[in-house]
Amino acid sequence: MSAPSALTLSRPDDFHLHVRDGASLAAVVPFSAARFARALIMPNLRPPVRTTQEALAYRSRILAALPAGTDFSPLMSLYLTDQTAPEEVERARASGCILGFKLYPAGATTHSDAGVTDIRAVYAVLERLQETGLALQVHGEVTDPSVDVFDREARFIDTVLAPLAERFKRLRIVFEHITTRAAVEFVLGARSGIAATLTPQHLLMNRNALFVGGIRPHHYCLPVLKSERDREALCAAVRAGSPRLFLGTDSAPHARAAKEAACGCAGIFSAHAALELYAEAFEAIGALERLEAFAAHHGADFYGLPRNSGRVRLERTEWAVPAAYPYGEETLVPLRAGEQITWRLTAMESA
Ligand code: NCD
Ligand code: ZN
Repeated sequence: MSAPSALTLSRPDDFHLHVRDGASLAAVVPFSAARFARALIMPNLRPPVRTTQEALAYRSRILAALPAGTDFSPLMSLYLTDQTAPEEVERARASGCILGFKLYPAGATTHSDAGVTDIRAVYAVLERLQETGLALQVHGEVTDPSVDVFDREARFIDTVLAPLAERFKRLRIVFEHITTRAAVEFVLGARSGIAATLTPQHLLMNRNALFVGGIRPHHYCLPVLKSERDREALCAAVRAGSPRLFLGTDSAPHARAAKEAACGCAGIFSAHAALELYAEAFEAIGALERLEAFAAHHGADFYGLPRNSGRVRLERTEWAVPAAYPYGEETLVPLRAGEQITWRLTAMESA
């Protein structure tokens, strides 16, 4: 088959997205709304989004930041803490727009200090999640500083995730932003009800990208980029087309000064070109025909949501990513800043 000059896909969803709050919202949400019908919004604000009431208020602020007439539906996740009340699960389910609770091991990533210190502290909440069918979204890394940073995901599987999936046999779990061969093997071999999201950066880059000619803070995210062997395992899994794997960008904006610092923040901003970057990644591995199901079907099916109507169109037209985008009073350096991207978004129709 010759390389297509355009791709038309069902409108996709982004099942892992950070949009922050306040002035940042208007700077970043329109990028996602231009490409995706829905997105699962991460709750790691300061203070975190812990209750249904807080999530509904946050959702309203996101909607208010959208250009008039935009058809985009934010879906929410609540931030799990040692203090989360089990009754919150029922309130969340009744809201109709909260898909689950997010487990951040305390200290694992950006704004995770209010996270869970010991998984046993949330067993009662997990029990309720399992009963209601809401999902647990998991940042899967151990926080023990003596564990090598490249091994923290694999260690988490052995010490936390695998035992958890056994203990709560009906709990629906999304292993977020998987980065390793170990995670691929775990998810593909796990019982039913377990899925994973994959980011564009982990499909496109390995850890060498952190050190090309010097240290590259805009390629730093958590979980950190892994080895080429790991990247190949992620690519092989999406090429095989497992319905357990779906799109979650983990687009995570930080102001330029917070990234280019002696202690730079973790997070890669990709919302400006998210679908285009996945198209590049899938094409590079000869799997463009798998993109639509990965981007528009598997996630909706896992979460029991209707698939979207409408289409998006990408054309094979190189374009240069700007060096930076405005970000409130500051600026934001996007993935591929100043470089070319092969695919360009040319249309989205919601009907
Ligand atoms: C995310 C952020 O900045 O909120 N950062 C990141 O590196 N991915 C948090 C997260 O998802 O770990
Ligand atoms: Zn994230």
